[in-house]
Amino acid sequence: MTDEQYYTLIHPYQDAMNLILTRLKILNHTAYENEDFQPIHSITNRIKEKESIENKLVKKRVSTSMQDAKSFLQDIAGIRVICFFEKDIRHLVECLKKQSDLIVIKEKDYITAPKPNGYRSYHVIIGVPIYYMDGMEYYPVEIQFRTISMDFWAAMEHRICYKNQPFNELEMKNAFLQYSEILEKMEKSFEVYSENCS
Ligand code: GTP
Ligand code: MG
Repeated sequence: MTDEQYYTLIHPYQDAMNLILTRLKILNHTAYENEDFQPIHSITNRIKEKESIENKLVKKRVSTSMQDAKSFLQDIAGIRVICFFEKDIRHLVECLKKQSDLIVIKEKDYITAPKPNGYRSYHVIIGVPIYYMDGMEYYPVEIQFRTISMDFWAAMEHRICYKNQPFNELEMKNAFLQYSEILEKMEKSFEVYSENCS
């Protein structure tokens, strides 16, 4: 894939991502009656870099053409939404799903069913309609919804475990699993206090 092809490829993904970012911002200040309790703590977003797209295609044993990138990757556009509580995630996802021009391509609820390592997050791939002069096409945007505590855990796990084979692996795995549960409990108790405030 040449640089020029890469920029042509990502253009509609950038547009689709911007549309979702705007909708999330609107939901953030309209989700609850009291604007002091906005559900979103922060949002980050990225377009997958050329090298990272090519590496993933190689891993999938397909060609590194623009066409295969479009066919085999659903995370070229990615948004991470950090909320305060799990209930905020549920509320935002419900609101987003009600937007009738968007489609849900794939959903993974690692909050109801955490991964064996303790990873918790809600992943959804949304199809965003992009209109051209002569038609329309859905472009996928991956959204990861996490609470602050889920994001803290995932950032540490990524930093410490990703591509690492530490000598005390079993001990570390157990610690991460335990911390995931502790963080969930902490968050739930903060939620109780927060409900008593409002
Ligand atoms: P990918 O090929 O990576 O997209 O995996 P997938 O198609 O099985 O998607 P999944 O929804 O399971 O994971 C996608 C993304 O979620 C990853 O790229 C990470 O950003 C994040 N993620 C998934 N599992 C973990 C995990 O165990 N730890 C951390 N830190 N992040 C994870
Ligand atoms: Mg991914």
